[in-house]
Amino acid sequence: MVILHVAAECFPVAKAGGLGDVVGALPKYQNRLGVTSKVVIPMYRTPFLYQEEWELVHEGSQFLQEHFFKYSVIREKSNKLGFDLYLIDINGLLDREKVYGYPDDVERFLAFQLSVCDWLFSCSHLPDIVHCHDHHCGLVPFIMTQANQFRSRLQAIPTVFTVHNAQYQGAFDWSKQAILPPHDSWKCNLLDWHGQINPLAAAIKTAWRVTTVSYSYLTELMENAGGLEKLFQTEVEKCTGILNGIDTEIWDPSSDPYLLYHYSLQSMIEGKRKNKEEICKEFGMDPSLPLFSFVGRLVGEKAADLLPIAIQDALLHNPGRANYIVLGTGEKETEYQLQELRNIAGGFYNCYIGYQEALSHSLYAGSDFILMPSRVEPCGLNQLYAMRFGTMPIVRRVGGLKDTVIDLGDSGGYGICFDQPSVWDITYSIRRAINLYYDNLKDYHNYCSKMMQLDFSWDKAAGNYLNLYRTLK
Ligand code: ADP
Ligand code: GLC
Repeated sequence: MVILHVAAECFPVAKAGGLGDVVGALPKYQNRLGVTSKVVIPMYRTPFLYQEEWELVHEGSQFLQEHFFKYSVIREKSNKLGFDLYLIDINGLLDREKVYGYPDDVERFLAFQLSVCDWLFSCSHLPDIVHCHDHHCGLVPFIMTQANQFRSRLQAIPTVFTVHNAQYQGAFDWSKQAILPPHDSWKCNLLDWHGQINPLAAAIKTAWRVTTVSYSYLTELMENAGGLEKLFQTEVEKCTGILNGIDTEIWDPSSDPYLLYHYSLQSMIEGKRKNKEEICKEFGMDPSLPLFSFVGRLVGEKAADLLPIAIQDALLHNPGRANYIVLGTGEKETEYQLQELRNIAGGFYNCYIGYQEALSHSLYAGSDFILMPSRVEPCGLNQLYAMRFGTMPIVRRVGGLKDTVIDLGDSGGYGICFDQPSVWDITYSIRRAINLYYDNLKDYHNYCSKMMQLDFSWDKAAGNYLNLYRTLK
């Protein structure tokens, strides 16, 4: 079986969040199960591009309305990621430093999707499954089945669409309809949601199967899906929740190249202590205190706007008893408040506003607790990385956090969970964590050892997608 994953991100080539981690890992683990899993993403100007060797595999051209463009497909020669990686190069559209955030993103990703379909159309061997991820690739199932130029050859290929985050839908105005490839006009309803062309809605309507990245997220989408609730309710029969896994080779405290001190289950306490000392040296903090960290996008979904007040409250009510670090980038107001908080935190709090892969790994390893108060969390990978590194997650019971963390007060539990994305719930949970750390350090360490032994790897999870693909062949 040959599977082609189509996505906007793939670690380590291009990553803005968890989507990149999933697309960079799942195909590798799928290949180990005896199928052939490949990935195609846009060719951005990221360092990976210049570090590796590439071969040209195809050249073609397409139209965005009357705008003619040429594209080429290159393949990474050494298969170093554990799967065939293809990049689509389109001069002037995709060749930028960042993945997203440009005013012409609609055109950029449509050109990418058209190029993928055109390339597929020209291939002598078609894949058995085309697996698309998130709204940037949401029009692929529509184009494959409805575009006049492609449907004769592509409409019979089963498509799977994975919803990593339904908050982002890529909707644009019908006035741009002409940039879509020619299709029967009476099929327009397949593209429409609430009077706009909505790539996420189109994918849910036209893909053969739809998956969400945790079980609870699928249930939540029926109630709250950024306006698509009714659509999820209607299409529920073809939807399945498949929990993400993690790449346990990249996220491995015994070999992670980003860590100064490696450790195993046996050396966890010592290893984590040394990593914490390094972080505290860098951020000017006392390493004998428990360290709470937040790593992630500073956006409403992650409830990052609550962090400045919650951390301030926690500092006030537990004076001198803990340190706090935030690593993230996102909404300007939250970034500003987090930076300002340093002025009144007396050395017990610090932040790094920006994206830094290395620091994120050090924080998962050297922190004692990871905070995730998310309002929405389709899966969440940070809690899985934290647990793999023996760090206790403090999470709101939502989406994938609910599916992966059990409160230590419940049977078989190991983390700290709360219900509301509120300052009060966050500070109460921090208080619980501080009390556990100071009053029952031995129990705390036992929970950490237990979490390190939990198996959230793709070894276990990748097969679930194969089972789904098999129902389509
Ligand atoms: P999301 O995809 O919604 O952002 P996930 O929990 O699935 O959330 O994944 C986030 C990924 O991005 C993790 O690998 C996390 O370590 C990483 N990450 C997020 N923000 C930063 C940052 N500022 N610096 C480094 N890594 C980050
Ligand atoms: C999204 C979600 C996150 C999930 C990730 C990978 O970005 O916000 O919860 O873990 O995709 O599936």
